[in-house]
Amino acid sequence: MVSNQKLQKWIDEMAAMCQPDSIEICDGSKAEYDRMIKIALDSGLATKLNENKLPGSVLFRSDPSDVARVENRTYIASKTKDAAGPTNNWIDPEELKSTMKGLYKGCMKGRTMYVIPFSMGPIGSDIAKIGVEITDSPYVVANMHIMTRVGTKVLETLGEDGEFIPCLHSVGKPLAEGESDGGKWPCAPLDKKYISHFPEERTIWSYGSGYGGNALLGKKCLALRIASVIARDEGWLAEHMLILGITNPQGVKKYIAAAFPSACGKTNLAMLIPTVPGWKVETIGDDIAWMKFGKDGRLYAINPEAGFFGVAPGTSMDSNPNAMKTINRDTIYTNVALTEDKDVWWEGIGYDAPGKLIDWNGNEWDAKTAEKPAAHPNARFTAPAKNCPSIAPEWEDPAGVPISAFLFGGRRPSTVPLVHQSFSWNHGVFLGSIVGSEITAAALDLKVGTVRRDPFAMLPFCGYHMGDYFAHWINIAKKTSADKLPKIFYVNWFRKSAEGKFLWPGYGENSRVLKWIFERTEGTGSAVETAIGYLPTVDAIDTEGLKVSKEDMEEMLKVKNDEWLKEVESIKEHYTKFGDRLPKELKEELAALEARLKK
Ligand code: OXD
Ligand code: MN
Repeated sequence: MVSNQKLQKWIDEMAAMCQPDSIEICDGSKAEYDRMIKIALDSGLATKLNENKLPGSVLFRSDPSDVARVENRTYIASKTKDAAGPTNNWIDPEELKSTMKGLYKGCMKGRTMYVIPFSMGPIGSDIAKIGVEITDSPYVVANMHIMTRVGTKVLETLGEDGEFIPCLHSVGKPLAEGESDGGKWPCAPLDKKYISHFPEERTIWSYGSGYGGNALLGKKCLALRIASVIARDEGWLAEHMLILGITNPQGVKKYIAAAFPSACGKTNLAMLIPTVPGWKVETIGDDIAWMKFGKDGRLYAINPEAGFFGVAPGTSMDSNPNAMKTINRDTIYTNVALTEDKDVWWEGIGYDAPGKLIDWNGNEWDAKTAEKPAAHPNARFTAPAKNCPSIAPEWEDPAGVPISAFLFGGRRPSTVPLVHQSFSWNHGVFLGSIVGSEITAAALDLKVGTVRRDPFAMLPFCGYHMGDYFAHWINIAKKTSADKLPKIFYVNWFRKSAEGKFLWPGYGENSRVLKWIFERTEGTGSAVETAIGYLPTVDAIDTEGLKVSKEDMEEMLKVKNDEWLKEVESIKEHYTKFGDRLPKELKEELAALEARLKK
């Protein structure tokens, strides 16, 4: 029994529908975590990793049909299609519920139903929210232990009549009498998977997938899709942003939040080790920021998560040493390769595979003959944020940290310079609205070379009409004075030369750009005014010790009007999607940009 009656009633209803063999209320203890892992080890779903190399760590292999977020099976089931907008999948909520109730009926037979009370954000913080996830997956329970704050303290904070966001999850694989998973990752076929959000009810229903954002419902489902709706209604921001602290040699510390589409290096930037002497970067979060105005009129951010659910391939001592040091203990690995001595390996780990491996499918893998990668490209690590060497001491401050700058960016081999600053808040919102990455390989329905727009990196995560979301960003500025608002920048680490080589080394060298941004927020740092915004003067970026030629530096800071006029046409096309819900301020920004380019 739990003391919150609404919660007890919901548990009873869900249990009656899903018909589990038993029900457990999670207490968030270490013993509980260990028990979940033991269940997975005993059932053959998980492998214990080398205790000397990776203490407290395990490896899971998922089903090949269940390896990533499934955007085409993700629904925003608001009362009207219009409320979900042109960028979301929509099904009428009554119809969707009826379909899903059919699937949920008896779906937990033969399994335990776990009830996970969790807090997104430090328990009791004004900015935090409580959710309760019901799941039939011990893998989900263990991951939620790492990614959120779970347990009895959350129930105490909820009290008898506190509000919570109900999140129902099932892997969608009931067991017959005497049947077991037999070491096979349980999930439902793709056409039976549903990741559903009911924004007016603030409810999440997920069925059929046990993986990542489909199943760890605190992350993308609650902290972005549902929270973005709550934030709109309550006047705050729930964003797909990392948060970092940056300290200059004089000891002045500022905070930056940055939104990039998935797979653009957010985790790497959040954990960056600066190459500029005397500067320090610390991590607050690597994926999500919730921000509210403080009494002083500044915007304060918390990281609602408690761990990192990061992509393993490409993570190495070169690209992200702090991540490598975070994941060398107490980590759940999913779909990476296993070495003979029970260590992990993946493509881009920085060294050759040490002998024969077991790949993410559980098959023998030999580098000499292999045709496919040993680790799935979306293989993940789940690791506690507190284990990160660069974690900021204040990362759990319930009051949050005051944000001085927002960064937007994407992968743009051409057109977009290394960094530029917006002229104003509305111009910054315009920059957020045009975020995108160029398509480099035939993907989706877009041609190579075209830009896949991902406004504010929120395309798969905004729980309502994106035109209204832009308006929310415009309006939020009216809550404070212009001097208190974060300054807005657009960065592009991915510009290429005419020969197709990256011009900028990235990683730790990005600290040089952060330094200029820091200086701009202080009112120093020299800049030139161009048609697209303020750009650093050629000598404003600290290049001491940097192995980049002056010509390349100039190339990266060039604004080519012909390219930008093409960009304007592409933005016009992008904007047509939003019809009359596109705020007039953004139309004005686009017209003003075009006029400046044609001057
Ligand atoms: C993520 C994503 O997993 O953005 O964080 O896809
Ligand atoms: Mn993300």
